[in-house]
Amino acid sequence: MMQRVEFRLVRPEETALIREVAALDRLSVGADAWSEDTLSEECGRDGGFVLACLTENAELCGFAVFSTVLDEGCLNSIAVGEGFRRQHIGEGLISEMTEILRSRGVKMISLEVRESNAAARGLYEKSGFTCRGVRKNFYRGPKENAAIYLMEI
Ligand SMILES: CC(C)(COP(=O)(O)OP(=O)(O)OC[C@H]1O[C@@H](n2cnc3c(N)ncnc32)[C@H](O)[C@@H]1OP(=O)(O)O)[C@@H](O)C(=O)NCCC(=O)NCCS
Repeated sequence: MMQRVEFRLVRPEETALIREVAALDRLSVGADAWSEDTLSEECGRDGGFVLACLTENAELCGFAVFSTVLDEGCLNSIAVGEGFRRQHIGEGLISEMTEILRSRGVKMISLEVRESNAAARGLYEKSGFTCRGVRKNFYRGPKENAAIYLMEI
């Protein structure tokens, strides 16, 4: 990693940080992005998590949104700012998420990703997820299959 970064969970009252997360999500995935309201609800509820990666100057460089249902975890969204990619921040977010979920008794993490998203699929495979199937035409605008990944932790 080129610079020192810290990973921490976002609290619902951190409205400026939540606004930055929503903006990065919009830049990265467009119309499928989470709204500020939904993000603050997620970090306020039991079983919902928004994990931020911040530089030493408190600049947001990436985030992950994940949740738990009983002993299963689900990675709902992850993005790294364009100027920060390929510096292992994505890997750092997944490994922090895994520790948080493991400490809460989670045994398995699942996620879905557009079949054509080579960067994200590369990140998931390097982090220990395996592709277990496809959901046909899961995404719209543009219509595309989802690849389903699982990782036991
Ligand atoms: C996917 C994403 C989060 C990866 O973040 P990142 O911080 O750049 O990833 P890392 O530096 O941790 O990469 C880890 C590994 O993933 C793979 N990888 C990452 N980017 C890749 C790319 N563009 N092409 C191929 N493999 C890639 C590589 O194996 C890489 O390891 P290496 O650099 O040692 O070769 C980032 O590209 C992104 O924000 N994309 C837009 C949002 C998105 O598509 N999110 C997923 C769907 S919600």
